[in-house]
Amino acid sequence: MAKPLKHVFVCAQQRPPGHPRGSCAAKGCNETLQAFWGELQKRNAFDRIAVTYSGCLGPCDSGPNVLVYPDGVLYAGVGKDDVAEIFDTHLEGGEVVTRLQAPAGVW
Ligand code: FES
Repeated sequence: MAKPLKHVFVCAQQRPPGHPRGSCAAKGCNETLQAFWGELQKRNAFDRIAVTYSGCLGPCDSGPNVLVYPDGVLYAGVGKDDVAEIFDTHLEGGEVVTRLQAPAGVW
């Protein structure tokens, strides 16, 4: 397996209905995760980009949250329709998608 240039962690945390922190699962993270895996396959980018689901990344209010390493960039409120842009601009283009970046006070 090649060492990935970028590693994407998509929060897939679930919590019981009514939990005070909510969860990325309740905000549609599964669609976001499927879109990342689909885009990875479409671009045949397995040798340079890894996509992994994760537990809670912290700012549950703003999910679905997505973390990109080694850059340490946290994206908030990422929907399935945002995924191609993250691939084009950040994962393959090298520039942060600023409109989706979590505010500095969050992370
Ligand atoms: S549940 Fe996703 S960041 Fe907490």
